[in-house]
Amino acid sequence: MMVKSYHRSYGLPVLVTRGNNVYGPRQYPEKLIPKMIMMLQRNKKLTVHGDGVSKRSYLHVKDVAAAFDIVLHKGVTGSTYNIGTAEEHSVIDIVKQIIRMMKPDVEPEKMIEHVRNRPFNDMRYFLDLRQLESLGWKETIKFDEGLKQTVDWFSVHGASFWDCCDLDSVLVAHPVPLVVPALVDSQASSGQPPAKKAKKVKFLVFGKTGWIGGMIGNLLTQKGFAWEWANSRLQDRESVERELLHSGCTHVMNAAGVTGRPNVDWCETHRQETIRVNVIGTLTLADLCAMHGIHMTNFATGCIFHYDQSKPEKVERDASLVAKDASKTFSEEDHPNFTGSFYSETKGYVENMLREFEHVLTLRVRMPIDGDVLCNKRNFIYKISHYNKVVNIPNSMTVLPELLPYAVEMALRRLTGIYNFCNPGAISHNQVLELYRDYIDPDFKWANFTIEEQAKVITAARSNNELSPHKMWKDLFFLREPSRGFAGLESCDQ
Ligand SMILES: NC(=O)c1ccc[n+]([C@@H]2O[C@H](COP(=O)([O-])OP(=O)(O)OC[C@H]3O[C@@H](n4cnc5c(N)ncnc54)[C@H](OP(=O)(O)O)[C@@H]3O)[C@@H](O)[C@H]2O)c1
Repeated sequence: MMVKSYHRSYGLPVLVTRGNNVYGPRQYPEKLIPKMIMMLQRNKKLTVHGDGVSKRSYLHVKDVAAAFDIVLHKGVTGSTYNIGTAEEHSVIDIVKQIIRMMKPDVEPEKMIEHVRNRPFNDMRYFLDLRQLESLGWKETIKFDEGLKQTVDWFSVHGASFWDCCDLDSVLVAHPVPLVVPALVDSQASSGQPPAKKAKKVKFLVFGKTGWIGGMIGNLLTQKGFAWEWANSRLQDRESVERELLHSGCTHVMNAAGVTGRPNVDWCETHRQETIRVNVIGTLTLADLCAMHGIHMTNFATGCIFHYDQSKPEKVERDASLVAKDASKTFSEEDHPNFTGSFYSETKGYVENMLREFEHVLTLRVRMPIDGDVLCNKRNFIYKISHYNKVVNIPNSMTVLPELLPYAVEMALRRLTGIYNFCNPGAISHNQVLELYRDYIDPDFKWANFTIEEQAKVITAARSNNELSPHKMWKDLFFLREPSRGFAGLESCDQ
């Protein structure tokens, strides 16, 4: 309508086309037909959304291209042309047809798994083609013939053509559209496999000697990704840029920063060093990644909030310790409200600055926990089980072994913006220590003190808060939601 208004008002020579479902060789692998073929090649069950009775009209890509061509050369400016086919098939019938072509000896139903339907999945969209046909266009490739040709093409070339992508994350029940880095039009139209020209995913990881960085390195190795460590200092712009370019990375994982030893109190007395690394360094890296089109995942912190009147400590929580009223927890829209420590204050500034960078994924990590409760002094459980006295306040926490794989997944999907990167719910110090007693040391005893008493033995204040997990699990609905509350901590024990 907007485009046509320009034709009507200013005489702009416009042609409008309305396309329908397209299929054929080289199609993106998350689309129905290629996905089913490639899943079947891998002997995976074919996931059908809902009962699969919704109808689709698939037109072969060559006929679609011919339609564009004829509209371009013969179309009447200001007109609209539907591009489609009169043939309709239900999704389930298409899937069964593919199975019969590829595995004629198998009962199709045995290879099909019905999964949750997409919200608002259209039942049908059927187009009137008379306007296009009046230009002389005709469908030339019938669906049966085109499907056979597409199955043959994907069976031979599919995997190598699309090997620039992480097919494991695409060939799943509910994939999100692929982003193929550095794939430009001329390459796509050359008929050459984009895999040869598109940049392959490669990670560059900052935080080589650190806790979280080390875990990410292990994870990327386990998952078989191409990756390498960064060696430059974050604030050294020239060497960071050299390293970004030499590595040929498409993704940066930044788990570098000063965290203070033995704890964040160090930052109170080392303010310039803290600014140099955590502020100037992080922003330098983000800026360089922006300049070079590199996706950056920043392991930031959720310790930039503290309970206040609108988000109080005492709220009603459900059985899995999640606040019943999400508006009483800190969301990604909230801006930092805790400046009790210099570390948190600078992290808060940086988070706000990073909101302006469109390629940065900010993950708010909170009181991280790994499976090494007995020896890892950085582990929140180790820490509180070794203090003389502890406060007793519910907090969101990040169970690293459970959540770090999600960070990789989010980076691959090039998600950006801020996410509360924590397990759902808030668990108090005493609840954690009760588990410690139950699982690790039946004789374990501890003593509590108040925040005011705690303030006398630490230099800087500590943040306590519950972060809302809802954005992450809404955007990653196709992944399993991690354990809530107690279950999250218990999973560390496995
Ligand atoms: N651990 C937590 O409780 C926690 C909680 C929430 C958020 N986070 C955030 O998550 C990130 C990683 O935390 P972590 O616990 O893994 O930290 P960590 O164990 O202290 O490791 C920090 C890493 O940063 C590197 N680094 C320090 N200054 C650097 C610089 N100027 N240039 C390049 N690298 C530098 C260190 O390398 P060198 O040894 O070479 O200096 C080290 O590899 C940090 O940003 C932290 O704020 C941590």
